[in-house]
Amino acid sequence: MAEFSLPKNSVVKKGKAHKAAQPGGRMKKFKIYRYDPDSGENPRYDDFEINLDECGPMVLDALIKMKAEQDSSLTFRRSCREGICGSCSMNIDGKNGLACTTAIEDVKGEVKITPLPAMDVIKDLVPDFTHFYAQYASIKPWLQTVTPPPAGKERLQSPDERAKLDGLYECILCACCSTSCPSYWWNSDKFLGPAILLQAYRWLADSRDEMTGERLDSLEDPFRLYRCHTIMNCANACPKGLNPAKAIAEIKKMEAERVL
Ligand code: SF4
Ligand code: SF4
Ligand code: FES
Repeated sequence: MAEFSLPKNSVVKKGKAHKAAQPGGRMKKFKIYRYDPDSGENPRYDDFEINLDECGPMVLDALIKMKAEQDSSLTFRRSCREGICGSCSMNIDGKNGLACTTAIEDVKGEVKITPLPAMDVIKDLVPDFTHFYAQYASIKPWLQTVTPPPAGKERLQSPDERAKLDGLYECILCACCSTSCPSYWWNSDKFLGPAILLQAYRWLADSRDEMTGERLDSLEDPFRLYRCHTIMNCANACPKGLNPAKAIAEIKKMEAERVL
């Protein structure tokens, strides 16, 4: 499995040590990236100790406990705690994933947590998704049609047409894939990255959409689409078991067949 770390020139100093509020037999150490732009200080790693007998099983449970009992300024995103909203994506023990679906006991030794790689950090474990969402908006992620719907009816799909959306519609836009992709690290200003390209294919694969040509036109670009070099980190990183590289290959195939 691919592992990621902060860039070599990142200055991340050792920070504070937070002792467990309820010490016990099964103690677990965490090392958490901390950064507060308002402080004017460099990022640091804070140490936390958690008694696993007093904590839920997931990494998100531990973060919530640290914030509630040891340091209320610890900042991270979360909402559903079920792997549905995508907001708790972060780098845990060198691998991108969701804090709410990653079991603490699956990480051997100290649990090191940093924000998703290669994104600007707003505070602590909260990355700035502004550019990612702008890229998402650029692919027009909604059904586009030119013909009117059948009178008084919805636009229907056959079971086979609907099945073509499986493996695509489940994407929760957590960005674990895009931020594990080397091509996206170096060219995220121009390359759309695996998450957004998987979403682009979700609409190309939809039998009801009538803008296939326009969608392919907008992707036909040396950077937006073709910066993918099939390195496959994206498929390894996806916490929903999706395969963005396969979706990208399907788009490239559609582009190639259109030219022929
Ligand atoms: S397959 Fe493409 S999108 Fe996926 S990690 Fe590799 S270069 Fe990035
Ligand atoms: S493809 Fe997977 S990793 Fe990428 S944004 Fe969607 S759910 Fe997250
Ligand atoms: S809190 Fe929603 S995916 Fe983790």
